[in-house]
Amino acid sequence: MKKLVTLHEFIMDRQADFPYATGELSRLLSDIAVASKVVSKDVRRAGLLEDFLGAQGSTNVQGEEQQKLDVIADNQFIQMFQSGGEVCGIASEENDDFMAFETEYSKKGKYVVLFDPLDGSSNIDVNVSIGTIFSIYRRKSEVGTKATLEDMMQVGSEQIAAGYVLYGSSTMLVYTTGRGVNGFTLDPSIGEFCLSHPDMKMPETGRLYAMNEGNINICESGLKEYIETYCQQTLPGASRPYSGRYIGSLVADFHRNLIKGGIYIYPDTETDPEGKLRLLYECNPLAFIAEQAGGLATTGRQRVMDIVPEKLHQRIPYIVGSKTMVEQAMSFLK
Ligand code: AHG
Ligand code: MN
Ligand code: MN
Repeated sequence: MKKLVTLHEFIMDRQADFPYATGELSRLLSDIAVASKVVSKDVRRAGLLEDFLGAQGSTNVQGEEQQKLDVIADNQFIQMFQSGGEVCGIASEENDDFMAFETEYSKKGKYVVLFDPLDGSSNIDVNVSIGTIFSIYRRKSEVGTKATLEDMMQVGSEQIAAGYVLYGSSTMLVYTTGRGVNGFTLDPSIGEFCLSHPDMKMPETGRLYAMNEGNINICESGLKEYIETYCQQTLPGASRPYSGRYIGSLVADFHRNLIKGGIYIYPDTETDPEGKLRLLYECNPLAFIAEQAGGLATTGRQRVMDIVPEKLHQRIPYIVGSKTMVEQAMSFLK
């Protein structure tokens, strides 16, 4: 049997890749792994636990109904970041404003983390895959002071690391620090993430497309044309049209396309003129992973990681996936 490489060992080995690294980023990644194991444990038993399923009875700043597990996961990650010492502040999809940590210990942290604690809310109660997405930046403000809004509102190309955890039929953690993408599967028998998907590459093209097709008549006509012309026709040399696959949890849809090759589209629509997905918590981190794996992420007109954020909870239209497929979709947009 091949030797198992744990996430911890892998992170430690890779630390040498960063000149002058002092180990804080490594510790932060390890902390994220620990928090995600706790969330994974909760997700796996949610149906048996009181107060884990269903709506919290509140809405977040974006007007979306919060689920109990959204709040549980959010608190779990925040606690970990607050006690770790590497992070001076965070911003999360579930909180109105960013949080600048108050203690002297946290103020010394070099990093900020932006995250979607639980992605795929509509799937929580029905036992379908959900996830966590995170994005790490070096702070702009001076170490030793309180984190600022400017620390949070950085362009995606400044990300130091990004990743996601997929609570699927197994729990996986996939991350990049800008030197390729690696995936780890949680072995529940030993409670460790172990390297299962080294150096992940997104196939250059694929045969899967993911879009909420309920939106097809309220999005721009070019996209409809792309779906009808490219995805729903039998192309020369093929035996059938592409297959539509839409889970409704971005992490899960993205992960499938990363492995099998495919395109994911969440456009701006008549009802959501800015799009639905959030630039800082969802689009940028997955764009970083996509690009590191050889794929692309765009609004249709601009590279996602070039967007200068204008507000914390900013939404954008989002097309991400296999390079050739994203380029084909873009060619339909004026
Ligand atoms: P979240 O649960 O973090 O609010 O994100 C939900 C997102 C994303 O995961 C998913 O792809 C998309 O919303 C689904 O939206 P529709 O239900 O509109 O298709
Ligand atoms: Mn989400
Ligand atoms: Mn969420």
